[in-house]
Amino acid sequence: MLNHRSYLQPSTHRLPRVCHRAATASLLFGLAFQPSLASPKPKPQTQPPSLSAGTLGQAGQGRHIAIGAAAASAYLAEAEYSAILGSEFSQLQPENETKFGPIHPRPDSDPNPYDFNGADKLVAFAQSHHMLVRGHTLVWHNQIPDWVKKGGYTAPQLAAILQSHIHAVVGHYASKVYAWDVVNEAFNDDGTMRDTIWYDQPGINAGAGTQYIEQALRWARAADPQAKLFYNDYDAEVLNRKSDAIYAMAKDFKQRGVPLDGIGFQTHISLKFDDPANLASYAKNMERFAKLGLELHLTELDIRLTDSSPESLRAQAKLYGEITDLCVHQPACKLLQTWGFTDKHSWIPNFYKGQGWALLWDENYQKKPAYEAVHDALMK
Ligand code: XIL
Repeated sequence: MLNHRSYLQPSTHRLPRVCHRAATASLLFGLAFQPSLASPKPKPQTQPPSLSAGTLGQAGQGRHIAIGAAAASAYLAEAEYSAILGSEFSQLQPENETKFGPIHPRPDSDPNPYDFNGADKLVAFAQSHHMLVRGHTLVWHNQIPDWVKKGGYTAPQLAAILQSHIHAVVGHYASKVYAWDVVNEAFNDDGTMRDTIWYDQPGINAGAGTQYIEQALRWARAADPQAKLFYNDYDAEVLNRKSDAIYAMAKDFKQRGVPLDGIGFQTHISLKFDDPANLASYAKNMERFAKLGLELHLTELDIRLTDSSPESLRAQAKLYGEITDLCVHQPACKLLQTWGFTDKHSWIPNFYKGQGWALLWDENYQKKPAYEAVHDALMK
C-alpha cells in the first residue's frame, strides 16, 4: 500500500491538507477524482478548485506530489514574494524559523524561553493559502543557541533539554505541521556518525551509534503521534557510503518499530550532478528506501550555477526536469520542495562563493526556464 501514491489510501497518519482537497474534490465530482489503487500513477481526472490553474502546486497535485518552498516570514511583506508563494506552492517549510536557535533562543529557566512569532506567521500564511506545513529541524549541529552550546551541560541535562524542546516545539505545532525533519545531517560522508553536541559532545546519553536519533524520533512521536517523522540529509541522494549508512539505520528502525516515516533528500546540487549514472543511482537509492515502506521527500532542492548565461539556465532547466522526473516515477516520492523559490533570497551566494541563480524564479521574480521544466515534467 505504501507504494501507491494515493492520499486516499488508509493511513495511520492524519491525511495531509492536500488530501482534504482531494477528498473534497471527490465529493464534489463524484468518483471522477478517485485515483485507481491498482495504478501507482493515477491520471488526474479533474482538479479541486482551491489550487490555481496552471501552477506548480496544481501540476503536482495531478501526480500526488506536494510542491513546496522553504520560506521566511520577513519576506511575506514583499507583495511578489507572498503572491508567488501563496499561489504556486501547496506546501511551505520555514527555512530557519523552526530551528533550535531561532525558536528556543533562551534557556528554560527564562520566563519566555521560546519565540514562535516568525514560524507562527508562516503557519498562518500557509493555512490561509491552504498549504501544508513541514517542520525543520529539531536535532541539528548548526543554529544551536549559545545557551545550549556554551552551557556546559552534562549528558543527562542535555537529554532533558532536548526532550523538553521537542515536546514544546512539536506540541506547539501539533495538527498544524504534518511532517518534521526530526534529525538533520547526522552522518559524515564516509558513513560514520558526525561528532556533535547531540551525539557525543557530550551527547544526550542515549547510547552509541544511531541511538540518539532513535531517541529523538520517539520523543517526537510522543509529542505529536500524527506527525510524519523524517531523517533528512545532503549528499545522500545517490548510492554512496553516507546513503548506505542511512539505509542501514532506516532498515534497522523499520524492523524494530522505531517511529521513522520517511527520508528527506536535500538535493543541493550543481550542474555536475547531470550525469546519467548519477541520476540512475538516485533512482536506485530512492527505490531501496521506498521498499522499506518509507515516504520520500526531496526537501531542499536547488541547482546552483556559476553564471546566469542562457546556456547555464538551459542546462539548469534540463536538470530540474530530470530531478522532477525522478520523483514523478517513484511512487513513494510525495514532495518536491525547493530551498526558497526566488534567486533574490537564496542561501547559495552566501554559502558558495561565486555561485547562485539556483532557483525557479530570478531575483526580479521572473520565471526562469527551470520553472517550465519542472512544470512540464509534472504534466507529462
Ligand atoms: C540554511 C539557510 O538556508 C540559511 O538561511 C541559514 O543561514 C543556514 O541554513 N541544509 C539544511 C538547511 O538542512 O537548514 C540549511 O539552511 C541549508 C543546508
